[in-house]
Amino acid sequence: MKQDLIVILDLGSTENTVVARQIRDMGVYSEIHPHDITVAQLNALNNVKGIILNGGENRVVDGVAVDVDPAIYECGYPVIAIDHPTAKCEQKFDKLPDDATMKSFLFDTCKAEANWNMKNFIADQVDLIRKQVGDKKVLLALSGGVDSSVVAALLIKAIGKQLVCVHVNHGLMRKNESENVIEVFKNQLDANLIYVDATDRFLDKLAGVADPEQKRKIIGGEFIRVFEEEARKLEGIDFLGQGTIYPDIIESGTKTAKAVKSHHNVGGLPEDLQFGLVEPLAQLFKDEVRACGVELGLPAEMVYRQPFPGPGLGVRCLGAITRDRLNALREADAILREEFAKAGLDKKVWQYFTVIPDFKAVGVRDNARSMGYMVVIRAVNTIDAMTATIERLDYDFLEKVVDRITTEVPSVNRVCYELTKKPVATIEFE
Ligand code: XMP
Repeated sequence: MKQDLIVILDLGSTENTVVARQIRDMGVYSEIHPHDITVAQLNALNNVKGIILNGGENRVVDGVAVDVDPAIYECGYPVIAIDHPTAKCEQKFDKLPDDATMKSFLFDTCKAEANWNMKNFIADQVDLIRKQVGDKKVLLALSGGVDSSVVAALLIKAIGKQLVCVHVNHGLMRKNESENVIEVFKNQLDANLIYVDATDRFLDKLAGVADPEQKRKIIGGEFIRVFEEEARKLEGIDFLGQGTIYPDIIESGTKTAKAVKSHHNVGGLPEDLQFGLVEPLAQLFKDEVRACGVELGLPAEMVYRQPFPGPGLGVRCLGAITRDRLNALREADAILREEFAKAGLDKKVWQYFTVIPDFKAVGVRDNARSMGYMVVIRAVNTIDAMTATIERLDYDFLEKVVDRITTEVPSVNRVCYELTKKPVATIEFE
């Protein structure tokens, strides 16, 4: 193993990730684990150099203060405690954002080396994945999103053709998105990739369904069925790869913190598909996942792509989805993204997209009255997606986009620019 490790045990702190980042910023790899980790589990981790007991406001769970197994103090690792008055170690602190104390613990007490970087992380994960998987096969749902793409590239590096990727095109992808997944993974990385074009199946199921929640349920449910059918066709799969990252774990709730929302990376797979899980990104933050993707050689547009909802264009083709509106939306979205990239705005704006409402408006085309669709442009900035502000797009830029959309997408005769913050609006329309 190439990296030293500092283990943070979560004893109810709301600042575990702050401490983890602080240590990583000092060049030492750190992982957050539950307070009730056993000595055997701790010893199974590689290159542990020291332990931080990180207490805090959530230390009392159901009336009982959580604590570590007393044997943890005896296993020979240096231990410090933060906000944990009853800890049985010598170094205890009320709180820690002080860099000098942390540095002294890492480098003087634990004798850790500052050897955390993406190259070493990848080398260690490749070893760990090979150890876990042996000669068995791993199945991965590869959507083309950042997390699933990075985990696929890492697994390909570790186990090559023992990874079976399934890319389900639900027909609600953006322009060329599935083609790019095939180009990068099948053609460039020589992945074992199964491509399922399920467009007709999804669009047939969605026909006439206008209710947003029902649309989401149909898309999520159908995705599981298609993936399950593919999985059942394959033989000898023992593991499921998942692009789980650390924020997913936190938001899903820990032993001392309540869930914000549950994350199901594959939409919640049926229980009778019994696999072991391979989740090599589970300790990384989003920016680290992107850095890992870059180090693995994935293209920048894949690694730095803007957030895109699982139900895809399905939640932007408002009301009951029709193929002609979906196609118009896809073309308009591609034009908007192209112009954003040309103007360098793609690196500045957090999320930008088009939406197509379910009505037609009057227009004039070829000197005659004609009915056409309206496309809405939305461009927002946010840090955590809980609130969002509007990007003030330049009017000349907007005019160019409007001209291109109304010229190149003949079924569209109006374009609007939407200016509502979140709250009171949400980022998506459905
Ligand atoms: P809202 O519309 O709730 O969106 O303000 C917040 C952020 O979440 C994205 N989003 C989704 N992402 N599956 C996802 O993976 C979904 O079903 C979904 N719905 C919304 C949205 O694009 C925005 O970035």
